[in-house]
Formats: sequence, C-alpha cells, structure tokens
Amino acid sequence: MREIMTTTSQYSRVAIWLHWLIALLIMTQLLSGKIMQAMGPSSLKFEVYQYHKSFGIMILLLSILRLIWRLTHKAPALPDTMKSWEKRLARLSHKVFYALMIGIPLSGWAMVSASTFGIKTRLFKLITWPHIPGVPQSESLEGQLKQAHEILAVLIVLLLALHIGAALKHHFKDKDDVLTRMIPRLKPRP
Ligand code: HEM
Ligand code: HEM
Repeated sequence: MREIMTTTSQYSRVAIWLHWLIALLIMTQLLSGKIMQAMGPSSLKFEVYQYHKSFGIMILLLSILRLIWRLTHKAPALPDTMKSWEKRLARLSHKVFYALMIGIPLSGWAMVSASTFGIKTRLFKLITWPHIPGVPQSESLEGQLKQAHEILAVLIVLLLALHIGAALKHHFKDKDDVLTRMIPRLKPRP
C-alpha cells in the first residue's frame, strides 16, 4: 500500500462524500443491527433484517469503490506537528477502518449464506442478492460467523470512538486543519 502514503493538501470531493456517506450508513447499521435483534417475531422484523442486509451490501460495494479511489488518488499529508507515533497510529487506524468497512459486511453476507434457513437477501425489495457461492449451510458455521460479525462491529465502535476523539483533539486542541479538510463547508484555517 505505498500509494496510501502519497500526499496532497486536500481530500478530493469524492473521498469526502464517500467518507460521510459510509460513516452515516455504518452508524445506522450499528443501531439497526441491535434494534432488529431485540424485536419480537413480526413481518416488520423481517423487513428490518432485509433493510439491514441491503444497506450492508451497499456499504460493502461503496467501501470497495472507496478503497480503489484511495489507492489511485493522493491524500493530504498529516501535519508536521504530529509526533511520528501519532502519524503511525493514524495511518494504522485508517487501514483497520478499511479492513472493517469491508470485513463486517462480508462476515454478515457469509453468515446469511451459511444459514440453514436459506432466507433470500432482497436488496431494497428489488434485486435478489446471491449467497456467497461455496459457503456450506451449517448451523455451527453460521454461529461462528455471527460471533465474528458481532466482534468486528464492537471493534469498529471502539475505533470510531478513538477516531472522533482524535478529530476533536486536532480541531480544538492542536487547532490544525485535519477536521476542516474532511468537512467541505468548514473554512480551512488561515
Ligand atoms: C463509522 C464511521 C467512520 C468511518 C468508517 C471513518 C473512516 C475514516 C477513514 C478510513 C479515514 C481515512 C481517509 C483516507 O485517508 O482514506 C477517515 C478520515 C477522517 N475522518 Fe473518519 N470515519 C468515520 C466517522 C468519522 C466521524 C464521525 C468524524 C468526525 C468527528 C470523522 C472525521 C475524520 C477526519 C477529520 C478524517 C481525516 C483524517 C486525516 O486527514 O488524516 N470520521 N475516516
Ligand atoms: C458495515 C456493515 C454492517 C454493520 C456495521 C453491521 C452491524 C451489525 C450489528 C451491530 C448487529 C448486531 C450484532 C449483535 O449484537 O449480535 C448485526 C446483526 C446482523 N447482521 Fe449486520 N452489519 C453490517 C452488514 C451486514 C450485512 C451485509 C449482512 C448480510 C447481508 C448483515 C446481516 C446481519 C444479520 C443477519 C444479523 C443478525 C444476526 C442474528 O440475530 O442472528 N449485516 N449487524
């Protein structure tokens, strides 16, 4: 991933919009995942599951697109005021984010593919999304994938807390342009 280190002074509009769209979708998924599990059996519960799966697959596709965009476009350099361990941690956390943005939906997709119920995934009630070819239907595999899906979701919540904390520290304590360059309407600092 040498390209990931290449620099410019700004994020591209595409990178910014993909960042916020995916962030919003992931936060909605984290909520809907918990809520739908707590619901009693009903046709509404079934629909919420279908929307969770639909938005989850959207996140998978958008994140792959975003990763391709990231590897083919320059990203802004981190401020020189950051210590080298901070820079290393920032880069590592961004890589782990990309891994989770792709890994979480993949684990969900694999889980429904392994389910012995064999319920179809219908994207937004429009398109039938296939199960992953070659994944055997097995209760124990489904259980393991469900656990993986849950653990990865907890990991992204922890990483998000670190990420938001770091963004706020950059903006309010360090007073650099790390947050403003990710929010197009905020004026860059002079
Ligand atoms: C689940 C939600 C989120 C995910 C998955 C996420 C993921 C990412 C990733 C992967 C990057 C690195 C961009 C790149 O170089 O390609 C990034 C950058 C950034 N994110 Fe987020 N983010 C999320 C939510 C947020 C929130 C809520 C904030 C604001 C408080 C935020 C503020 C930023 C900022 C300021 C940067 C730029 C960092 C830099 O310039 O090095 N993010 N985010
Ligand atoms: C970034 C995307 C996703 C996020 C953040 C996410 C998050 C979550 C969370 C937090 C839960 C509750 C886990 C628990 O506490 O046990 C959950 C459950 C679930 N997710 Fe996802 N999910 C995503 C994508 C997907 C996808 C793509 C699918 C399937 C195509 C999927 C299928 C499921 C299913 C079936 C459950 C319920 C498991 C059960 O109750 O047996 N998810 N998800």
